[in-house]
Amino acid sequence: MTGPHPGIHDLSLATTHYRLDHDTLARHLGVDPAKFHDGLGQDSMSVPAIDEDIVTMAATAAAPILARHGTDRIRTILFATETGADQSKAAGLYLHGLLDLPTTCRVVELKQACYSATAALQFATALISREPRQQVLVLASDIAAYELGSAAEPTQGAAAVAMLISADPAILRLEPHSGLYSGDVSDFWRPNYRTEAVVDGATSISAYQDAVQAAWSDYQRHNNRELSEFAAFCYHQPFTKMAHKAHRHLLDSTDADAGLEAAINASTPCNRAIGNSYTASSYIALACLLDHRDDLAGQPVAIVSYGSGSVAEFLSGIVQPGYRRHLRTTANVQAITRRTPITYERYRTLHQARFPTDGADHDLPQESAAPYRLAGISGHKRIYQSRKADDTG
Ligand code: COA
Repeated sequence: MTGPHPGIHDLSLATTHYRLDHDTLARHLGVDPAKFHDGLGQDSMSVPAIDEDIVTMAATAAAPILARHGTDRIRTILFATETGADQSKAAGLYLHGLLDLPTTCRVVELKQACYSATAALQFATALISREPRQQVLVLASDIAAYELGSAAEPTQGAAAVAMLISADPAILRLEPHSGLYSGDVSDFWRPNYRTEAVVDGATSISAYQDAVQAAWSDYQRHNNRELSEFAAFCYHQPFTKMAHKAHRHLLDSTDADAGLEAAINASTPCNRAIGNSYTASSYIALACLLDHRDDLAGQPVAIVSYGSGSVAEFLSGIVQPGYRRHLRTTANVQAITRRTPITYERYRTLHQARFPTDGADHDLPQESAAPYRLAGISGHKRIYQSRKADDTG
């Protein structure tokens, strides 16, 4: 093959300071914990501290990538999120300042529910195909928040993924032809005046399954490959049982070998502990898969991306020889295990906290132990702080 073969050169995840265990939530809601563990496939959810948000999580995920590869070749920063803090300014610009990224780059924010990180990957590969020396920093960072007491409450969560996209990638070479599907459906959305999403749970489950099936049909029109040829599948995981449901639906609709059902297992443990992280979810599944399996070199893996509203994409990549040397398995595991468990009362307080909107100066208490934090709001501006700057200052 000639020309650049862009893909994921480095991949890092970050999540929150706190976690709420589903056993705690079940006890307070008077629900059988088995409903959450077995029915939804969730054990705990990440809960942001008062001084954490999509920017602090994304910066925490990106910093080790920049430390390893430098910033000289980064000419584009794509920030995928549906937890936008500003209707105008891209969240990536706060991160650009925090991480001291080059001024010679473009920065934009992308939105389409949980799908937009996949759009960011595709835009990145197109840019690199045209200019192979450049690298693109892709961030996917979200906080999934639903109303207290709603059916969706146990499927909350929060996390970020940072990916360095380059020609000649060390981890995953993306293949050029994906399968696409878009259709106008109201299964999940968040009007500008709401902090929590509105969701029609049953519609979202069937819309997800139908969209994935349609995206796979389109993939097959462009690629001569059967489902059985994939070594593993990384689905969007609003709750991990959803990935199993969608996978089974796809296998049933194609008469594929039922033995393939296990091909998603290694991709779910991280999301089982984190909860829904919207745009980051499919790529946390990918990090989890690569961290937990050592037999994937040279194998095709599928990434199955879905964003309510809705857009689905079935894309594939080839895991690169020697990929395990480039992974961040220990750091990824620690990001999840180091979270501090919180009480139900503390979780409720954090859930209901709202920033003042009066434009005055408001400092936020220091809770997060992450390298970056939201220090306050002043004159309607978000003020971020790097722990490193703090220490030296
Ligand atoms: N032990 C084991 N399993 C149990 C159980 C128990 N005691 N009680 C219920 N369950 C199972 C149910 O059988 C069901 O499994 P199934 O779907 O395989 O049949 C599962 O737990 C969920 O139960 P259900 O009654 O359907 O839950 P719910 O009405 O409270 O809501 C969602 C579930 C997913 C609809 C809700 O959490 C939601 O709206 N989530 C957000 C939307 C979302 O993420 N959509 C995904 C597409 S993006």
